[in-house]
Amino acid sequence: MGRMRATPQVRDKHLLYSAAVQSPDTDLEFFLRVFRRERGRTFRTLREDFCGTAALACEWVRSGPDRRAWGVDLDGRTLDWGRRRYVSRLGEAAERIELIRGDVREARTPPVEVVAALNFSFCVFKTREELGGYFRSVHAGLDPDGLFFLDLYGGTESMTEETERRRIAASRAFDGTRIPAFTYVWEQAAFNPIDHHAVCQIHFDLAGGVRLQRAFRYDWRLWTLPEVRELLLEAGFARADVYVEGWDDDADEADGVFRRRVRFQNQSGWIGYVVGIR
Ligand SMILES: C[S@@+](CC[C@H](N)C(=O)[O-])C[C@H]1O[C@@H](n2cnc3c(N)ncnc32)[C@H](O)[C@@H]1O
Repeated sequence: MGRMRATPQVRDKHLLYSAAVQSPDTDLEFFLRVFRRERGRTFRTLREDFCGTAALACEWVRSGPDRRAWGVDLDGRTLDWGRRRYVSRLGEAAERIELIRGDVREARTPPVEVVAALNFSFCVFKTREELGGYFRSVHAGLDPDGLFFLDLYGGTESMTEETERRRIAASRAFDGTRIPAFTYVWEQAAFNPIDHHAVCQIHFDLAGGVRLQRAFRYDWRLWTLPEVRELLLEAGFARADVYVEGWDDDADEADGVFRRRVRFQNQSGWIGYVVGIR
């Protein structure tokens, strides 16, 4: 009988992050559905702002030979990680992706059909002037019929100091690495109701009592949906639609289907997409 070999522990914070919070295929399915509904066709070009490791941009070019992507991020080390671990595995598709180190407000990419800014990253902009400036630059960088996808979290418990733990099942990363089960810890470490400045941190609890303390730290302004929608309209977008998941009463959890809504009952926590329609 062969000896069982335990899957080696994964301590790479980007791999753990990808297993805990990213699902680029689900995001892309959503973008395709909304784009088709709005424009009656599909799209080929995508710019991922605040791309980090560029998981979304890589998944996009991998999913079809006529798809192109650009990724923009300030952090050269994270971009290098993405180049090494993801882009290098893309084969010929690697020629259809470009990662740019820089500020999203100054990104010079050809006009694209879709810009995405996920995992609440735009919350680094803390004033209306800064966020409005970013939205105007996205508007200018889109094709005339392009769409802009953002996500945002909120809910009655988003404005408190609290910590949430979630068990993440074993999975396989984009580059094939096996990631054993672990616990993802989301800490809302500080929140100031006067200016909505929030400090959030991600920790990972691994097998054997190993903790990756403060693997990621975010210093944000927690924007609200009405503020984001108003700023998108002020920046020139024709509409700013909100999509949230439905609620499954039997399972007592979100049903995983994002629908366009003009009203929904607030919950302790929700994540929604905001879509800027140019
Ligand atoms: C929350 S992470 C998001 C990573 C990835 N987009 C995702 O969905 O998981 C935020 C990223 O934004 C980058 N960033 C922060 N401010 C930026 C700016 N002004 N321009 C470009 N990138 C920025 C950081 O370097 C970091 O990689």
